[in-house]
Amino acid sequence: VDTPVLGQLRVRTNGTLGVDRSTGRIIGVAEQSELSPAELVSSWVGHTVSSETVESISLTTDQFLMPGLIDTHTHAPQFAFLGIGHDLPLMDWLNKYTFKHESEFKDTDLARRFYKDVIARIVRNGVTFAAYYGTIHLESNRVLAQTICQIGQRAYVGKVCMDANSPAYYSESTEDSLRDTEEFIKQVIGDQVDETQQRLVTPIITPRFVPSCSRECLEGLGTLAEKYQLPIQSHLCENPSEIEFATSCFPECPTYAHIYHKYGLLNSRTIMAHCVHLSDSEIALMRESKASVSHCPNSNFSLSSGIADIRRFIDEGIPVGLGTDVGGGYTPSILDAMRMAAAASRALIAFKRDNGGSKDKPLEAAEALFLATQGGARVMGMDEQLGSLDANKLFDAIVIDMNAPNSPMPSIDATPAVRDADSPYEAWRLRIEQFVFLADDRNISRVYVGGKLIHSI
Ligand code: GUN
Ligand code: FE
Repeated sequence: VDTPVLGQLRVRTNGTLGVDRSTGRIIGVAEQSELSPAELVSSWVGHTVSSETVESISLTTDQFLMPGLIDTHTHAPQFAFLGIGHDLPLMDWLNKYTFKHESEFKDTDLARRFYKDVIARIVRNGVTFAAYYGTIHLESNRVLAQTICQIGQRAYVGKVCMDANSPAYYSESTEDSLRDTEEFIKQVIGDQVDETQQRLVTPIITPRFVPSCSRECLEGLGTLAEKYQLPIQSHLCENPSEIEFATSCFPECPTYAHIYHKYGLLNSRTIMAHCVHLSDSEIALMRESKASVSHCPNSNFSLSSGIADIRRFIDEGIPVGLGTDVGGGYTPSILDAMRMAAAASRALIAFKRDNGGSKDKPLEAAEALFLATQGGARVMGMDEQLGSLDANKLFDAIVIDMNAPNSPMPSIDATPAVRDADSPYEAWRLRIEQFVFLADDRNISRVYVGGKLIHSI
């Protein structure tokens, strides 16, 4: 099951998918084939492959394979205060809880203990690729990157930069911020590369947000992003007080988004989280810059930030993926992000209906699934490598068991609409709706990254 195109759910019943262990890539996919696994592999690679060299794994009729889930925005250290302080708006929540908890990661031993559990939990939730914010601390960020590599997840990891308007106990000089960012880039790039020659962890340029960065810091980060051709992540237009603060720091720029743009931080490699309150000119700038949006609906509900109009972004051609934004959001589950995105879409439609009318279509389950897979891959600049189950793509995938112990999904017999569906495709379509709205980590029975099994239950 996958969704290579927004709104199109692809189900290949009784299918077979081949993976080359040495490259971690998909070599072919067949549907309803009569051939044996070795015969299929032979047809895909163009020469005879003996059955002894082919290891095959079968799924039950209650299981399906789908692309791994992609979290385009999360904060690893913020698992330390999950579920706390959601009565506060963004700036108060940052000042009361966030900065204090993040500042504790000056202790590298804490990072070593803590990040192991965090990454394992995220992987259990079926996330094969995530864009992480660490903290300002060079060593703890390195521990985060190493932990992710050891567990085998794919990731972008950012050293958070904060040289302005930040509390004394959690800030850095401009010089330290830029020097440590470059040092982190060199360390992460130098540290790894596994036997399949894949680099799992890539550094990402991470100004926390405009209010916490000086002009010099933003300029230096823009230069580093260009020099190393790295992805960039930050926060944009999440909350009215934040926007007011950001624009008051840079009165020479017409909008919040223009500030990032001015410093070379808004381009086709940029992931901007939230974008709840973008103006028309900012939407135009995002589109022209080819920047992407990470939609974080759980966080936007939890911190009373508002609702991002992702239907509009999609219609305007701006790439959109899903983010959990832990701890603004209270769960690392991308399944939750799919449901919250659907709820956000419905709430926005109802609001528009009651305030002059709307022709928008609510976000369907298949569209939510797209945002969590192929859409996320596009946001991360990896849509040709990841996001769907197609030949030559990296095999980042999860096996879903709809009948797992204590599964929150009902059995097929308990859902007459599925049992009596007109076609196998329609039955699957309904089953996938149930998956999107009901499933959780109990249903995620295997997680593969780059062809390697990194989690199973
Ligand atoms: N803006 C700046 N920092 C943060 C953060 O840690 N979380 C969220 N949600 N927004 C931010
Ligand atoms: Fe965030």
